[in-house]
Amino acid sequence: GAPVSVNIAKIDNEPGMRIIQQWRGKPVWVFKRTPEQLAALPSLDGSLRDPKSDNPDQTPAFAKNEARTIKGKENIAVIVGICTHLGCSPTFVPEMLPQPFDAEWKGGFYCPCHQSRFDLAGRVYQGVPAPSNLEVPPYHFADDNTVVIG
Ligand code: FES
Repeated sequence: GAPVSVNIAKIDNEPGMRIIQQWRGKPVWVFKRTPEQLAALPSLDGSLRDPKSDNPDQTPAFAKNEARTIKGKENIAVIVGICTHLGCSPTFVPEMLPQPFDAEWKGGFYCPCHQSRFDLAGRVYQGVPAPSNLEVPPYHFADDNTVVIG
């Protein structure tokens, strides 16, 4: 499949807004994270199955960091929106919500099919059915407002 471009200007001032772009038949989520959300990521490591994204199947080498992004563009997340368990579509939970299933919830993605949870970098929590982090596709920035996926 050919690479696809996404104009991200409209999410620049709206943390929590998400663009969904189809790429190779998959929905790719592009969304912005606040400095506070990024700063909270390392604090979650102890609750995650693969906090450093050591499994290369879901994380290209350029994104093997806590934010799971290109260096210098940590605020923009680019993640395939397909649960790594059985392929359902996780729900975006951008803000901290009171959740009966997890008092430690700091926002991220929740899969309604079998209750897997992921953080705002798509990293999977321990103790859920999903075996691995959500996939980060190959991508780069053509300019400050344009992400190219593929
Ligand atoms: Fe997401 Fe099973 S498909 S938890």
